[in-house]
Amino acid sequence: MEAAVVIRPYRTDDAPSMAQLYYDAVHGLGRRAYSAAQAAAWAPAPLQPIDVLNRAADGRMTFVAANARDQAVAYVDLEPDGHVDHLYCHPDFAGQGVASRLLETVIQRAVEQGLPALYVEASELARPVFERHGFAVTARRDFEVRGVPIHNYAMRRELT
Ligand SMILES: CC(C)(COP(=O)(O)OP(=O)(O)OC[C@H]1O[C@@H](n2cnc3c(N)ncnc32)[C@H](O)[C@@H]1OP(=O)(O)O)[C@@H](O)C(=O)NCCC(=O)NCCS
Repeated sequence: MEAAVVIRPYRTDDAPSMAQLYYDAVHGLGRRAYSAAQAAAWAPAPLQPIDVLNRAADGRMTFVAANARDQAVAYVDLEPDGHVDHLYCHPDFAGQGVASRLLETVIQRAVEQGLPALYVEASELARPVFERHGFAVTARRDFEVRGVPIHNYAMRRELT
């Protein structure tokens, strides 16, 4: 069933919800593919709303999926060079095509802007979502976060 959410541009008053859902997504969903130690290194605590505000104001575009109370339950962002930085969905809204709809929005905007390509470093959970939208893995990335080994996938989709 498709979730009853509306995709809309981010507003500054979304920052507290986004800060919390980032943490909830990593610990509620990320744990399906990553260990507790990896999830703790990835998101040791909820983000600070000021960090969300600052990131959203650095020139990127951010879109949220809002529930019936207009609260952000998922979000995605697109940097000016075509980099998709964050894609996070609250566990209560997972598996209902919400990330997919956010990604469709980003692809549409990127095409409208004439960007040649989109690229991302996708988690194990995000990889199938990006693959369904035409992204291909270019490399597996093994690295450390806060001293803990973790991996994701460099993925790219040409738009021209
Ligand atoms: C990755 C993430 C954002 C995906 O969010 P999501 O909203 O659950 O993604 P979708 O619902 O679009 O797709 C997930 C699954 O739901 C299924 N789905 C899609 N549309 C659906 C619908 N209308 N109804 C039911 N299921 C649906 C998809 O087939 C998909 O299944 P699959 O993974 O087995 O292929 C989420 O898991 C998350 O926040 N993970 C933790 C943080 C993370 O890894 N972020 C990515 C960093 S790059």
